[in-house]
Amino acid sequence: MSIVYLNNAFMPIEEAKISPLDRGFLFGDGIYEVIPSYDGKTVGLEPHMQRMFDGLAAIGIKSTKTLDEWKDLIQTLLHGNGGGNLGIYLQISRGADVKRYHAYPEGVEPTIFAMTMPIKPAITADASTVQGFSVATTQDMRWKRCQIKSTALLGNVMHFQEGYAKGNDEILLYNEDNILTEASASNAFIVKNGVVITPILDNQILPGITRKLILDILKKDGSIPFEVRNISMDEVFNADEIWVTSSSKELAPVTTIDGKPVGDGKVGKVWEAAFKLYTAHKFEY
Ligand code: PDD
Repeated sequence: MSIVYLNNAFMPIEEAKISPLDRGFLFGDGIYEVIPSYDGKTVGLEPHMQRMFDGLAAIGIKSTKTLDEWKDLIQTLLHGNGGGNLGIYLQISRGADVKRYHAYPEGVEPTIFAMTMPIKPAITADASTVQGFSVATTQDMRWKRCQIKSTALLGNVMHFQEGYAKGNDEILLYNEDNILTEASASNAFIVKNGVVITPILDNQILPGITRKLILDILKKDGSIPFEVRNISMDEVFNADEIWVTSSSKELAPVTTIDGKPVGDGKVGKVWEAAFKLYTAHKFEY
């Protein structure tokens, strides 16, 4: 039985109830986070929490817990759910008013919900054994504030489904100028001639924590060159390697794009080297 946290109490998930007037339910008016943990050890806890605080500030929800209180809550939740490989899901909505009305209500307490969900065990950085991802591509039709990790994910859900319905693991998105933004639930990277390239952070993409950790680790290590810049879809289709990153999939190599092989169609050597570094250093964050 899974133990969750809802508004100041831990309880079995079956007992967790919220009002249908909750603005998270009515409007998708909330912020969420997913933090990976392996055998009780979290990855990127503080940057994840900072992004959540930034998101709450961006939409004017007062954060009612300190970082230390969140850390205690997360430890209790991990302990209560038996450790292992767990994604910690946190969600704060603007709360439940007495009516449905678009304006931010006064004096309503945010609804705080937290649960864990199983994530895949971390894989070995071995290009000969890992299974490559297949991705589709489509124009990014989401809103213009994708830097906010909003619970209003319909745009992402519809894009993901578009790829999934055709048998893909993810879908890469590009803007109206044919520039790569990200994927429906991950950030995107390409590799060309040994150089790792990922899009710049702006309102078109989520500032992914896995992306941030990878760039930081590559920078500190110095053996793999990288660039942060706009990437055209021509470059994507002609890349030697493509990767997608997120807290639940870590650094996933993509070997098929729109049904065609990426590079030579095999998991790349730069992925292997970068993922080795990520695996060696991820718990330092
Ligand atoms: N998704 N971009 C989008 C649109 C995402 O939804 C995610 C993560 C990322 C990667 O961010 P991070 O590395 O911080 O996980 C990029 C999460 C895991 C989800 O919605 O389940």
